[in-house]
Amino acid sequence: MGRIVLKEKILALLEENQMVSGGDISKQLGVSRTAVWKAVNALRQQGYEISSTPGGGYSLNRDNDLLARPAIWSGLKTRLLGRQLELLPSVDSTNHYLKLAAQQGAPEGLTVVAREQTQGKGRLGRSFHSPPQGGIYMSVLLRPKAPAADCALFTAATAVCVCRAVQEVAGAELSIKWVNDLLYQGKKVCGILTEAALELEGSRLDYMIVGIGINTGGPGLTLPPELDQIATTLYDICGVPNLRNRLIAAILNHLEDFYLSAEARKEDVLAEYSRRLCLKGQQIRLSTGDPGRLFTAIDIDDQAGLIIEDSGGARQTLTYGEVSVIPTRQQTGGKTTV
Ligand code: BTN
Repeated sequence: MGRIVLKEKILALLEENQMVSGGDISKQLGVSRTAVWKAVNALRQQGYEISSTPGGGYSLNRDNDLLARPAIWSGLKTRLLGRQLELLPSVDSTNHYLKLAAQQGAPEGLTVVAREQTQGKGRLGRSFHSPPQGGIYMSVLLRPKAPAADCALFTAATAVCVCRAVQEVAGAELSIKWVNDLLYQGKKVCGILTEAALELEGSRLDYMIVGIGINTGGPGLTLPPELDQIATTLYDICGVPNLRNRLIAAILNHLEDFYLSAEARKEDVLAEYSRRLCLKGQQIRLSTGDPGRLFTAIDIDDQAGLIIEDSGGARQTLTYGEVSVIPTRQQTGGKTTV
């Protein structure tokens, strides 16, 4: 067995048991006790606090910000979302990983969380900064029995659910920049990338992958200089450390609450989205349109499209794309987003 796989298997045993002896680990995994000891030390060097007692065994300290499935599960109130949960040390993109799983028939609710992404994807072909610490990178598989047109509604609902979860766990009130950037005082904290596949006849959704990336930050962690002016972290906003596991659980709780009663919750969710929308009344330009043409953002419609008005008072609704506010404070100037 390779070293990385061994470390992951030991970590899983430590996550699932309060205390486990070196002998038991070596028997269960079919490796020598020396190999176990070396792997435990390597995990310690990665930041895991693992204590050992001479006669007892190893136990993992859960009172830290390391992602761990038992810590996520202990906050979960769901029956569907996150009950099957894969926690990956590193992956190219949790959305990409889950898309492959969905194509092979993975069940609805399967959730993938990664400690880091090597090719985190943002909207419109951008990349998403996903270092090993200080962020949540998660994707959830949904199989809504809904027309393809509802995709925008699910994306909007996810934005609202993440705002609710952040408020509950970190006490921060975020605003939403259409379509799905979550901001604190104009700086980005979270991005959402929803990807969907249609059934063969093309009008209904086969599956949807909701990908959520959050800058959680933490003591001593800073954003790279190119993101510092346009993004911030939950730790910098509210000073609460160790919230990743609780926040993941809270997001799944809110998402399931919406998802299982989408029709009944739709009005509420859209009203909250509109209340949190930070563009209202602002001068904007469209990323895909004539850069010289300015509009005023009005509100969202009942499908979460953005209603905009041109200088002559004519209104139209945007269903996709991106807008930038004038004067712009959020353009990255490059291709990397957060
Ligand atoms: C954006 O800001 O443009 C959207 C960012 C979405 C990032 C998340 S992180 C988890 C999931 N996996 C990805 O590759 N992207 C999404």
